[in-house]
Amino acid sequence: MKIVVTGGAGFIASHIVDAYLAQDHEVVVIDDLSSGSHDHLNPRARFYQLDICSPEIEAVFAREKPDVLNHHAAQINVRVSVENPKRDQEINLGGLLNLLEAAKKVGVKKCIFASSGGAIYGETQTPADETHIERPLSPYGITKLAGEKYLQFYQDVYGIDAVLLRYANVYGPRQNAKGEAGVIALFCTALLQGNDLNVFGDGTQTRDYVFVEDVVAANVLALHKNMRGIFNVATGNKCSVNELCVLLQEVSETKANVNSLPPRAGEIKQSCLDAQKLQAQGWKTNSSLQEGLKRAVEFFRRFYFGTT
Ligand SMILES: NC(=O)c1ccc[n+]([C@@H]2O[C@H](COP(=O)([O-])OP(=O)(O)OC[C@H]3O[C@@H](n4cnc5c(N)ncnc54)[C@H](O)[C@@H]3O)[C@@H](O)[C@H]2O)c1
Repeated sequence: MKIVVTGGAGFIASHIVDAYLAQDHEVVVIDDLSSGSHDHLNPRARFYQLDICSPEIEAVFAREKPDVLNHHAAQINVRVSVENPKRDQEINLGGLLNLLEAAKKVGVKKCIFASSGGAIYGETQTPADETHIERPLSPYGITKLAGEKYLQFYQDVYGIDAVLLRYANVYGPRQNAKGEAGVIALFCTALLQGNDLNVFGDGTQTRDYVFVEDVVAANVLALHKNMRGIFNVATGNKCSVNELCVLLQEVSETKANVNSLPPRAGEIKQSCLDAQKLQAQGWKTNSSLQEGLKRAVEFFRRFYFGTT
């Protein structure tokens, strides 16, 4: 298959590009390198350095005529979306529609969309399945949910199958330590550089951390022609920030002071997703949190010091 992957120089989608190429698909990457890196780009993919909002997108689709669009490029920072909802909407909805209009014209058969369970469900005391009430608490969550609705519209009206993958908190090698969602990357960096770990609030806030390779497996499964609809991609397990501090010090064999900072306004206290619907399609998590954290620490050690 020929697959356009947007955001393919970024954390999650660069791994997806590698996996698609390993399965002998032809891959075209569109990325403006605003947060992605040349270093993550697979040289076997054709690369267009381009904003997804650009009018040139249409010509790229006309030239490449892909079968599938895998859409990961986005404004991913929740705080930026609160400060500048207009910019968030321009990229996350304007960019999506620009891609879908181009995709429609060349007969793209499927779109796989990186959505966000945490941002769409809001606070969840128990693992939320796909029928959980949608309560986005930020412009970022609102654009992810609206993006899903647009994709369902393009499926119903133009026959472009939509696979909407609602990720939990993704972590692993290549995560940008500057990213909003990258607490594991931030903590790995702090630990390896001998800095303190800064925890906002009392550290009891929990998240569902899913390893990037398991997310990649979901994107591979999503190519299957019978796959359509909304799927959570998550472990169903909760881990608190305090537990993360302990685990990361263990796996990295380092010690750090843990500072308690004032809680961040509006931060979700608990987020956990139920992925049984995706599991019923044959997907499972292959990496425990300990194993995944070990792999992340190895990556950041190589990244900062060139050793493992
Ligand atoms: N990381 C997570 O925990 C998580 C959770 C839920 C959903 N997601 C979604 O997964 C996707 C990938 O996230 P990530 O964590 O890999 O982030 P990332 O920042 O590493 O990747 C995003 C990529 O998109 C590119 N990009 C951004 N704006 C662009 C634009 N206007 N035109 C072209 N390229 C652009 C960036 O350069 C980058 O390479 C995003 O859609 C994000 O919302 C991520």
